[in-house]
Amino acid sequence: MLTIALSKGRILDDTLPLLEQAGIIPTENPEKSRKLIIPTTRDDVRLLIVRATDVPTYVEHGAADLGVAGKDVLLEHGSQELYEPLDLQIAKCKLMTAGVAGQAEPVGRLRVATKFVNVAKRYYAEQGRQVEIIKLYGSMELAPLVGLADKIIDVVDTGNTLRANGLEPQDFICEVSSRLVVNRASMKMKHGKIQALIQTLSQAVDARH
Ligand code: ATP
Ligand code: PRP
Repeated sequence: MLTIALSKGRILDDTLPLLEQAGIIPTENPEKSRKLIIPTTRDDVRLLIVRATDVPTYVEHGAADLGVAGKDVLLEHGSQELYEPLDLQIAKCKLMTAGVAGQAEPVGRLRVATKFVNVAKRYYAEQGRQVEIIKLYGSMELAPLVGLADKIIDVVDTGNTLRANGLEPQDFICEVSSRLVVNRASMKMKHGKIQALIQTLSQAVDARH
């Protein structure tokens, strides 16, 4: 059995057409079902529906053999334990800093709100800059508007969310896309099956571009 961890929303939407190329189609709609383990048209493959940020945890511990997670989530998770054999080139965006449009930097210590605490620590450490990092779980854009923080670090695609809240994208941190991740032990124990899947997905990614 191969177990693949996916999150609802854009990762599921963009990954299912790729999995279909490998004959893997969920037997019920994962967006609508309350079930968290979804069988597929392949007897030897099942899907786990988990939170986006939990995908690396399931795969690292071997509860799932494979998973699909954004590079932002993988950088934040920070594990060396996962293989990352394929860029699926879906859910593309950028990690950026952002702040109130036209507002000058504060004189004292910068306060940065983000759900990417580890990414933020590394980014500002590389710049040799002392910052206070404020952990949030969502709606980061609100923080500079109500004086909780001077800046945020978040993913940006069109920039519409920032603009709608009077914020502007500032410093580029890195490009983000979703990656196939594989558990190390699974890669050894289920090598044939996993390699075949990686190859089919790789061809499906190339065909899309
Ligand atoms: P959770 O629901 O666990 O908080 P989430 O809301 O970040 O997670 P999604 O919004 O489904 O989950 O995002 C999944 C991944 O898609 C992110 O980790 C990121 O890599 C990418 N992503 C997020 N926002 C965008 C966007 N606006 N455009 C393109 N890709 C995005
Ligand atoms: C994501 C992310 C940003 C937004 C960026 O939110 O958290 O707020 O996309 O995209 P944009 O630059 O095109 O506006 P999403 O729409 O996924 O909602 P979420 O907060 O539920 O993740």
